[in-house]
Amino acid sequence: MKIALIGYGKMGQELEQLIKQDKKHEVVSINYKNKDDLLDVKNIRRADVAIDFTSAEIILDSIKKIASLGIPMVVGTTGWYEKITDVEKIVKKNKIGLIYAKNFSLGANIFFQIVGFASRLLGKYGNYDVAGFEMHHIGKKDSPSGTAKKLASIIMENFPKKKKLETQRLDRQIREDELHFASLRAGRYFGYHEVLFDSLADEVKLVHSAHTRRGFAEGALLAAEYIRGKKGIYSFEELFGKGVIR
Ligand SMILES: NC(=O)c1ccc[n+]([C@@H]2O[C@H](COP(=O)([O-])OP(=O)(O)OC[C@H]3O[C@@H](n4cnc5c(N)ncnc54)[C@H](OP(=O)(O)O)[C@@H]3O)[C@@H](O)[C@H]2O)c1
Repeated sequence: MKIALIGYGKMGQELEQLIKQDKKHEVVSINYKNKDDLLDVKNIRRADVAIDFTSAEIILDSIKKIASLGIPMVVGTTGWYEKITDVEKIVKKNKIGLIYAKNFSLGANIFFQIVGFASRLLGKYGNYDVAGFEMHHIGKKDSPSGTAKKLASIIMENFPKKKKLETQRLDRQIREDELHFASLRAGRYFGYHEVLFDSLADEVKLVHSAHTRRGFAEGALLAAEYIRGKKGIYSFEELFGKGVIR
């Protein structure tokens, strides 16, 4: 498969390394080596799929331009999900396929299933409380992480007591129906997410901790293979949850 990399930061470079090593695919275009670069339209046209890891500031514009070339997209960039209706319209109008994920790591997607399962049971039996915590490197631009938001929505879908997400520092006591999910930015952490359930009897703590960015790159490549030849918008996490990718 011929791949256009949109964004050549930490994730773009990780993907380039992975693609070089596994030799199944080829990078035909690298974009935004410098922030002021224009999209390399000529070479993006040669690609089977474009994989975007850039920033929420420019994602809508990139999707518009790449969709107009008829190239399917994998979108790893986070922090743009309030624009999903606009993205759906662009995808439909240009008849392309687009797959996105708050977290492309396979381990994290299995973690989502585990957290859903645990929330369902621990929300029903025993008198548990639940909370979340995430930690990322100092270069991360959005907070809370897309993965934290995804985890919070999974918890609230399954844990009846929690109805409202609270991600800010509290200067008051937490209300019973609030789910508190805290964020910390420090050092070089690739992505640490923790969900804890606490009761008078015991504590259940679930942790997903990325050692490197490799897992995100592997998942994004798997998504690229999946989206090739398809039309419409897909969420990687949903596909994974439904067992479409297995
Ligand atoms: N879904 C997942 O599994 C997953 C995993 C990891 C990261 N992410 C997300 O992917 C995105 C990128 O992460 P990263 O760690 O690779 O970030 P990064 O190292 O900051 O790289 C971002 C890339 O996009 C370019 N860029 C940013 N803003 C731009 C602008 N306004 N105009 C042109 N180019 C611009 C940067 O260019 P410069 O270097 O010149 O600034 C760089 O090439 C983030 O949204 C992050 O949250 C998602």
